[in-house]
Amino acid sequence: MPPVHKAVIPAAGLGTRFLPATKAQSKEMLPIVDKPAIQFAVEEAVRAGLRDILMITGRGKRALEDHFDRSFELEHYLEARGKVDELAEMRRIAEMADIHYLRQGEPRGLGHAVSVAREHVGDSSFAVMLPDDLMHEESRLLEEMLAVHERYGRSVIALKEVPHAEVSLYGCVRPEEVEPGLVRVVDIVEKPAPEDAPSTLAVMGRYVFSPAIFEALEQVTPGKGGEIQLTDAIGLLSKEEEVYGFVFEKGRYDVGNKLDYLRATVELALERPDLGPDFRKFLADVARRERLV
Ligand code: G1P
Repeated sequence: MPPVHKAVIPAAGLGTRFLPATKAQSKEMLPIVDKPAIQFAVEEAVRAGLRDILMITGRGKRALEDHFDRSFELEHYLEARGKVDELAEMRRIAEMADIHYLRQGEPRGLGHAVSVAREHVGDSSFAVMLPDDLMHEESRLLEEMLAVHERYGRSVIALKEVPHAEVSLYGCVRPEEVEPGLVRVVDIVEKPAPEDAPSTLAVMGRYVFSPAIFEALEQVTPGKGGEIQLTDAIGLLSKEEEVYGFVFEKGRYDVGNKLDYLRATVELALERPDLGPDFRKFLADVARRERLV
């Protein structure tokens, strides 16, 4: 298996769940403390050795390009004021990966967004990372999925056990165990009603695909919500060649969901050496005042 070098990050969503904050700015730029959500995804890709990143964007996403570009005025300003650390950090962000941008055109769903990457990806395997699924920096999920891909030469999707009532928020699989923590996907459904769900193993937004996914995407017709669903293409692919599911437990935040966005903000702020100690005291005061403990 030639090593995977490319990651595709669909970032064309409108972010309606975060209106009005997302009326005039991209939801991927919403910060967790002071780091935009999208930067977590790019850093995760780079940690896993994927330095060639294609972002699928749309209208109103210019801030994403600016964020990962050099900013000479800002650098000049920081340099003139001796802000050495900030300057180094701004340069690091601009240089950590080769980022390409392509617009999706019509918003026709996640499957369509991934199909737009075909030309860029070519005939090699690649990762897809959904930035709403933010992974903790200590998680090695993507590296582990890439290792499974290297072992079997097939597509691998990330799976997590969720409460039964929540399966309707996710793609959901019928698994067949290969070994502990690794399954073969026998069937997959997008956002089933809990009573129709084949299991409580839900798809999380990390995928490593063989290039055969593009043929499958060409064949799918609009599914749930009238959109071209990536899940439906994975279903078709699983009839042609094995698709593996890598089961993980820890380290994921759904920053497209307000409550989980708050959890990410609080937990990641607590871990910061510059903020954590004071923030911990503040939270303890709040907990006492609100009689939470
Ligand atoms: C998308 C996919 C879904 C997957 C989820 C993971 O849904 O369509 O299969 O389980 O991402 O976060 P979305 O959350 O974009 O509605």
